[in-house]
Formats: sequence, structure tokens, C-alpha cells
Amino acid sequence: MKGVILAGGLGSRLRPLTKITNKHLLPIYDRPMIYYPLQTMVSAGIEDIMIVTGGNSAGDFLRLLGNGREFGLKDIYYTYQEGEGGIADALKLAEHFADGERIAVILGDNIFADDISPYVRAFERQPSGARILLKEVTDPQRFGVPELDGERIVRIEEKPKDPKSSYAVTGIYMYDGRVFDYCRTLKPSHRGELEITDVNNAYIAAGDLYSDVLRGWWTDAGTFESLHLANRLVAERAGWSEAAVTAAG
Ligand code: DAU
Repeated sequence: MKGVILAGGLGSRLRPLTKITNKHLLPIYDRPMIYYPLQTMVSAGIEDIMIVTGGNSAGDFLRLLGNGREFGLKDIYYTYQEGEGGIADALKLAEHFADGERIAVILGDNIFADDISPYVRAFERQPSGARILLKEVTDPQRFGVPELDGERIVRIEEKPKDPKSSYAVTGIYMYDGRVFDYCRTLKPSHRGELEITDVNNAYIAAGDLYSDVLRGWWTDAGTFESLHLANRLVAERAGWSEAAVTAAG
């Protein structure tokens, strides 16, 4: 399966950190943010990868990652999104690369503790459709939120004021070849973007969207609070502890 990492947009919520550089090049503990989604894909056995960049410093992705040798890759494909038209707008740029095959898509600011291989394998066994990963959160208003009927997703709402569940739709989406047809039918939302939630709702309407619930921690890193949290979670995973630093100091 091919993989697409979406690292476009302008990162406006992180200004002034993103005034002169790209959000996905900011540090998460000891690595640039983009390393994490890239490693998540590679660890799941996905080696044919396109990165959609945009905004500032797009050329720095090439300087940083090159052909992906550090990750054991032969090469990486790159494309550029003009402006901030939304996640589905960025995804549209990968149509030629996908060439009708199934794809796994990951948002460039999402960091996952879990190895996603089991979910990718489950998607490969699906005859068709889409597969998304959910995680229970305390602040669902910030995310796409599923309305559930038992385990079945009835609908997904983007950043609802009154969430119908305590789950967030995380930034990993697996799609069959129909995804680009659905992308073509989208209209900009009230925030002026082509929403990935509308793509997922199209799969729900077709009765072909499946989901799993993640076990380990997950966070985005697109706001000051979540960027800070991502740094803390990754540092703790690496064995860093505040108590040890205080003792050493
Ligand atoms: O983090 C998960 C959430 O991501 C989902 O629960 C939401 O349903 C989904 O809409 C998205 O919400 P955000 O509003 O937090 O997404 P954000 O605008 O921060 O974009 C996330 C990533 O998507 C960003 O790091 C790069 C990519 N992106 C985004 C935009 C707007 C692009 O490549 N191009 C874009 O134009």
C-alpha cells in the first residue's frame, strides 16, 4: 500500500513559531515533527511514500529527509500545496501518485504511540471502503467526532460544540481508490476548507467505513497546548523524567 503524509497548510495556530518555518519542522523532543508520522508509516511496512508540503520552508523537507535513507527508504515523493485549502485539498494532490491503489494517509502533526500495523493489515483484508482510527479524549470539541450506534459510526461531525461521543477521529485514514472521486464532490466548509470529515461521511453514506479504537496515547501538535503535550509524551517515552532532572540539578 502507498502512504501519503499531509504536511501542508500554514500552521496559523502556532504563530509566531510558524512565521518563518513550517509547522512540521518544529521540534518534538529530539526530532522534527515530520519524523514521527514518517516513522509510523515505515514501521507499518509502508515504503512508497509521498509528502504533501506547503507554506514556508517547503524546500527544507528535501534538505532534511532527502530520499529517506535514514528511514530505510529508497526514495520519497514530494508535492506542494498552494495556500491552506484543507486536508482534503492537500490529499487531492496525491491522486496521480496513488494511481488508483489503496492509500494510508497520515496528518503530519499527529503523533501515535501505537504501532499501526494491525490496523493497516485489517484494512488490507477489507474488500473495499475506508478505515479510520478513533481515540477516547477529554476534549472532543477540538476534533472530528463520531456519533455511534453501538460500534457503528452513524456520522462524523467536525469540531462540534455539542459532541455526540467522547471519541476523536485521529489523523490516520485508509482509503480505497474511490477517495479521489469523493474529494471532487466536496464544497468548502464554513472555515473555507475541504474537510476530510466530509470524505469520511461519504464513505459512511456508502456503508463502507470501518474503524478501530487505538490503545496507546495519541496527540496532534497543532496548538501550543498540544505541541507542549506531544513534547512531554515523547520525552517520557524516551525515558526523560522531570524528577531525574530536578535531582541532577
Ligand atoms: O488531529 C486530528 C484532527 O485533524 C481530526 O480529528 C479532524 O477531524 C481534522 O479535521 C483535523 O483537524 P485540525 O483542524 O486540527 O487539522 P489542521 O488544520 O491542524 O491540519 C492537520 C494537518 O493536516 C496539518 O498538520 C497538515 C495537514 N493540512 C492541513 C490543512 C488545513 C494540510 O496538509 N493542508 C491544509 O490545508
